[in-house]
Amino acid sequence: MMRSCAPGRVFQVSCVALLALSALHLTVTLLYYLDIHVYTAQMVRRIGGLLISQPTSSPAGISPNFTAAARNRTLATTSPLPLQPCPETPPRLVGPSRIEFSQSINLEDVRQNNLLVREGGRYTPSECTALQKVAVIIPFRDRDEHLKYWLYYLHPLLQRQQLDYGVYIINQHGEETFNRAKLLNVGFMEALKEDNYNCFVFSDVDLIPMDDRNIYKCYNQPRHLAVSMDKFSFRLPYKQFFGGISALSREQHEKINGFPNDYWGWGGEDDDIYNRIVFRGMGISRPDGVIGKCRMIVHRRDKKNEPNPQRFDRIARTRQTMQNDGLNSLKYKVLQMRKYPLYTFIDVDIGGPGRPPS
Ligand code: BGC
Repeated sequence: MMRSCAPGRVFQVSCVALLALSALHLTVTLLYYLDIHVYTAQMVRRIGGLLISQPTSSPAGISPNFTAAARNRTLATTSPLPLQPCPETPPRLVGPSRIEFSQSINLEDVRQNNLLVREGGRYTPSECTALQKVAVIIPFRDRDEHLKYWLYYLHPLLQRQQLDYGVYIINQHGEETFNRAKLLNVGFMEALKEDNYNCFVFSDVDLIPMDDRNIYKCYNQPRHLAVSMDKFSFRLPYKQFFGGISALSREQHEKINGFPNDYWGWGGEDDDIYNRIVFRGMGISRPDGVIGKCRMIVHRRDKKNEPNPQRFDRIARTRQTMQNDGLNSLKYKVLQMRKYPLYTFIDVDIGGPGRPPS
């Protein structure tokens, strides 16, 4: 009995084992198949993301011999991939552009053309991590028409430059003589209350760069950007000229105790800033004369911004005055801060010559 039953039992056990093995094989194949599909979908998304963020360079990390560890990382997460740093040379720059001031500008159109700009004039590139966080500071009073041109030309340019930036219009309240450098110091302090900017571009409202390769960022030396203005026949008026548009990192600005607060009226404050930079052992960095071309909106001299007769005496004494006149002596009162779609407007009382803010 035992002998006749044995072969049947062995056959039965073998069949069960074979069936179990087939089921296991089927399951493994199915799991592998599903796994490949999830993996492929992740890869397609990943490659797509990289292609958008770096259109000119070959996407890193997508070689065929993608390691098992990398593959597991991809499968384990569904959160967006960390962005690559933006390239040193932004890929969407167009070079020289035509700048003109004959057409009238409608701010709503400017807004519609810059939908990625957030309230207060803030922008952050979505395709890569910006190399610097830049506050653009504009000293201002009664120049609404100029501001429209500035916003019209500069927002698209700054976005092509892939900067994480904010635009701050610092309005001198009241009728006192204008003080450009003090307003710039106010902009520096106020922008830092909003975000940890590491670079500050100080620009006149009537100056538009003609070439987007003139990057609004900071370098290892203070940067002068308005190097060849139409007003000066596209040349530097003199070697030490530091007017119009300049860029200083937070460290550079603090190292020179900021800008002077005591230049009331037109002229001299930019020469004082140049002196401060040199006296603190730094030099000036500049783009070449082609990239650094700028156009200035022609206008009459503003009231209450007459040439400052004291400027020559003051420039001669920068070495002494810079110790106690600057960020460490800055006094002002913010009267109002308003966030507009394309800029932040800060109305400020900075006092007057010999008069502190009330
Ligand atoms: C003034 C500067 C000005 C330059 C160019 C100089 O005499 O002191 O403030 O930027 O001229 O106009």
